[in-house]
Parts: sequence; structure tokens; C-alpha cells
Amino acid sequence: MSEPSPSSHPLRLLNLALLGYGKMGRTIAQLAPSRGFEVRLTLDVDTNAGGQAITRENFQGIDVAVDFTTPEAAVENIRRVAALGVNLVVGTTGWHHRLEEVRGIIESSGVGMVYAANFSIGVQMFYRLARAAAQEFASLTMYEPYLTEAHHRAKKDAPSGTALELQRQIQPWLGERVLTIASVRAGYIPGTHELGFDSEADTVILRHTARSRQGFAEGALYAARWIAGKKGLFNFSDILGGR
Ligand SMILES: NC(=O)c1ccc[n+]([C@@H]2O[C@H](COP(=O)([O-])OP(=O)(O)OC[C@H]3O[C@@H](n4cnc5c(N)ncnc54)[C@H](OP(=O)(O)O)[C@@H]3O)[C@@H](O)[C@H]2O)c1
Repeated sequence: MSEPSPSSHPLRLLNLALLGYGKMGRTIAQLAPSRGFEVRLTLDVDTNAGGQAITRENFQGIDVAVDFTTPEAAVENIRRVAALGVNLVVGTTGWHHRLEEVRGIIESSGVGMVYAANFSIGVQMFYRLARAAAQEFASLTMYEPYLTEAHHRAKKDAPSGTALELQRQIQPWLGERVLTIASVRAGYIPGTHELGFDSEADTVILRHTARSRQGFAEGALYAARWIAGKKGLFNFSDILGGR
């Protein structure tokens, strides 16, 4: 079946600004027209150092800005986009320790933002299964939990935002047990996360492996359509009906 052309798409065409035009920015740009979006503006580090290209003039008619940049750039981008009254989807990782600062920016600007360390719907399911597993193992203290994650060598942050989010989500069931996290950065490894429970007798493993970046791009565009016209700060898990 062929993809609908932008003009025949049943959904209202939304105008996007892409902040960051690296691996993720390009994947989103490729997918966007077939999902009912027009990419009106793309900014990379050359055009937007320090957020300088985020101006009222450049953002005229933009419905949602999608940020896949770097941990250093993301918060300033958020601040400037929110000041223009434009909604955001933020997939950049490595800045979540500043979440409360970002919440203040979003709430005081009266805009909407969806963020996630991982926009893959499969990973959102993985989080849910991980929480259920941690709950089942809660009283079985002979099982020691651990987390491993592996990514391509260009990934800048370690541990991955996804690993930290997984840790945050299962921590309530771990009690005194410490979750060891090990990171590998090498070659072209697609994002891989493994949560294990190891005992003297055996190991139970839950694993998610991303096959390509398309899953992240699909989720980010799903979030962009969802946040258009809304206010407030949301995690992607919440908008998928997260429990
Ligand atoms: N949430 C998710 O589902 C998900 C999925 C994949 C990746 N990520 C995260 O998303 C981020 C980007 O990943 P990627 O694989 O696309 O990385 P990438 O290929 O390195 O792309 C990052 C891009 O951001 C640009 N950039 C840097 N500062 C900027 C600024 N101030 N304004 C605009 N653009 C700027 C970089 O420009 P230069 O190349 O010129 O430096 C580069 O084009 C990382 O934090 C990664 O961990 C999240």
C-alpha cells in the first residue's frame, strides 16, 4: 500500500521546526510528509549556536518544534521556543536532571511540551514489563537486578537516558538492592537495553533492541500531533495512557 501524499492526508497539516538535523532530525524529516507534517524550518549547530536562530520571524506559522540536539543545547532551545509561545517535543537526552527548571519554563510560558528519553512505543512497553517484573521480584531478594545498555560510538551520554528512566521506574520495588548499570559505546550498535535478575541458580532477562531510528521518529511525530494546541509538560509514557 502506498503512503498518502501530504495533500491527501486526512489529518490537518502541521508545520514543524526541527532543532537538530543529525541522525534523528533527518529521520523525522523523511517521515514527516507521509504523516501529515510539513517541515518548515531545520536548524543545526551552524545556524543555531546558543539558540540564536530561534526568533519570532523564523518561527512564524510553526505549530510544534521538535528537538533532537545535544544535552548542552536542549534547555536553551526549550527556553527560547517556549518564549515564542510554540509547543515542543524534546527527544534529546542528558538534560533530565534539569527537569524542574524546564517545568518552570513550560508552565510560566503557557506552552505544551512532550519529552522522553525514548520515543519508541516498544520501549514504552518495555518499561511497563520491567515494572511488572521488578514487582514480581520485589520479595525475591536472592535475585540481583542489573541493567546493561549498548549504543553506537557517537552517542554522547552514558548511561543512556532510557537506562536512567528504567532505573527510576523500577527503583520503588528494589528495596535495598542496588541496580548496577553498565554502558557500552562502540561501532554502529543500535540502541539495546537489557534488564536482568540474576540468582545463583539462573537469570531472567528482558531485552529491547531498536532495529532502526524509525520507531523513535514515529513516536516523536505521534507526540507532535498530540501536543499541538495543548498546554503543560508531559512525559511520552503519560500520553500513551501510561500506568
Ligand atoms: N528520545 C528518543 O527517542 C531518542 C532517540 C534517538 C536519539 N535521542 C537523543 O537525541 C539526541 C540527538 O540524537 P542524534 O542521534 O540525532 O544525534 P546527532 O546525529 O549527533 O545529531 C544532533 C544534532 O544536533 C545539532 N545541534 C547541536 N547543537 C545544536 C543547536 N544549538 N541547535 C540546533 N542543532 C544543534 C548537531 O549539529 P552538529 O552535527 O553540527 O554538531 C547535530 O546535527 C541525543 O541526545 C540522543 O541521545 C533520543
